[in-house]
Amino acid sequence: TIVSGKQIVQSARDNGYAIGAFNTNNLEWTQAILRVAQDKHAPTIIAASMGAIKYMGGFETVAHLIRDLDQDLNIDVPITIHLDHGDYNAAKAAINAGFTSVMFDGSHLPLAENLAKTREIVALAHEKNISVEAEVGSIGGEEDGIIGDGEIAPIADAIAMIQTNIDFIAAGIGNIHGRYPEHWPGLNLAHLKTLATALDDVTHNHVPFVLHGGSGVPDDQIKTAINMGVAKVNVNTEAQLAFHQALRNFILTDQDLIGKNYDPRKLLAPGVTAIESSLSDRLNVFSGHL
Ligand code: G3H
Ligand code: ZN
Repeated sequence: TIVSGKQIVQSARDNGYAIGAFNTNNLEWTQAILRVAQDKHAPTIIAASMGAIKYMGGFETVAHLIRDLDQDLNIDVPITIHLDHGDYNAAKAAINAGFTSVMFDGSHLPLAENLAKTREIVALAHEKNISVEAEVGSIGGEEDGIIGDGEIAPIADAIAMIQTNIDFIAAGIGNIHGRYPEHWPGLNLAHLKTLATALDDVTHNHVPFVLHGGSGVPDDQIKTAINMGVAKVNVNTEAQLAFHQALRNFILTDQDLIGKNYDPRKLLAPGVTAIESSLSDRLNVFSGHL
């Protein structure tokens, strides 16, 4: 069942768990995410980056694919179709194509411009009951060509941002896209706590935080972050690594060289199974079961 992100993320925030926001890349990836959501009875966000949307064909293709699979696979848990790290034009395109949630990522813009554009996107999206995520500070590392310097989100920026009426906020707290470096000091949980307290003073409605760069963050840090107000955890790299590892093992060890495994449905199957088990493990930590 396709729903707005606000519905499931706010309810996760109010009830002390987090929704998994899992990036998709293609048909198999989308099916894997939907099957995990259904198996775990977990409301789930399927996220598509601008790069993935381009790769898959376009905004309409992605929105239709997720909607159609949701129906054909009889998925009865809430599913959100989300634009991940969108620029201004991508956010508008996603709103028009039937996405039910958009992230407008203006974190690399001057704050005033980030706020002004976020406000515009909020007006367009809320008219259609589409949720909006925005970012202050920045997430370190690189994802699909989006590079961030890992700036810790200033409190004043976060306060100004929630006043744009967004539904959830991504704030840099030392989190990084892709693999974490060996000597990564961990999430800045003290800063998350300070942010949460400051925002609660302003809004009184417990705005949900989004944790980007979820891959490779130790379980105890994720759980503490959830207790402090994180209600959406983005995971991309972990599933990619699991897919790659399983597919590689299969190809390198498969003895059926002249057999049937050149059929892409057979060839990709071990990778797809690996995506499912990796995401399913993540959901055990987020504990968002219905
Ligand atoms: O927006 C997507 C996420 O922040 C993914 O981060 O690839 O490090 O899991 P990750
Ligand atoms: Zn991200």
